[in-house]
Amino acid sequence: MNKPIGIFDSGVGGTSIWKEIQSLLPNENIIYLADSKNAPYGQKSKEEILRLSIKNTEYLLNQECKLIVVACNTATTNAITYLRNNYKVPFIGIEPAIKPAALKSESKIVGILATKGTLSSSLFHSTAENHADGIKIIEKEGEGLVPLIEKGELQSKELRGLLNKYLLPMVQEGIDYLVLGCTHYPYLIPLIKEIVPDKVKIIDSGEAVAKQTKAILEKHKILNHSALQGKSTFFSNIDAGVLKSLVVRDGVTVSVSFLDF
Ligand code: DGL
Repeated sequence: MNKPIGIFDSGVGGTSIWKEIQSLLPNENIIYLADSKNAPYGQKSKEEILRLSIKNTEYLLNQECKLIVVACNTATTNAITYLRNNYKVPFIGIEPAIKPAALKSESKIVGILATKGTLSSSLFHSTAENHADGIKIIEKEGEGLVPLIEKGELQSKELRGLLNKYLLPMVQEGIDYLVLGCTHYPYLIPLIKEIVPDKVKIIDSGEAVAKQTKAILEKHKILNHSALQGKSTFFSNIDAGVLKSLVVRDGVTVSVSFLDF
């Protein structure tokens, strides 16, 4: 089926998920919505996150998307149950990868960096409780990180200062896994690696989300079997320059434009 996959995030962060999906499913057409005008979602109320998630979903459904990827931990943990109960297409969500970290951790101490909206959600709490038996989980809100990434700052002094403040106490407590619970944060990995020791492994859920997307497309028999490369179309509701800088890659056809949604 050549109808597009829809992806949305509060901004540019979900492009880290788009990269994984596009690599695994290069023949799929994809429409990506960056609701950067309303970023960060992480500081908003559950009601507001739900309202914005509905707005994004309805836009993508009007574009005839066959499946929607909620490429935002904050929107997933606060809105995916509602979306699944109220719309017919399949939804793929993203949640912090606590389970694999908890299973692999030898120190039994795992750090998680995520937004306030994710850490305070009931879905996150139930996942954490189910998988963290005997594991100490150190939660940290990454306040201030998303606005800097939205501005295209991936290496600034301010960013380094915030990461030092959030991560060094976790390192001192003995974490051996750091879970990135926000789709914006994979863009910080080069900087994070300069801050935490090599023995701390960094994990995010991008690859797992791409595999799950493929499995669900197969299950519903809606994979695109075209031999041609798919097209990825990106929309941002602010100046799309940062978005463009993150998604332009050799050999991948993308179009990036402003859309007032
Ligand atoms: N990228 C998002 C997430 O995965 C949201 C960040 C935000 O807007 O606060 O949580």
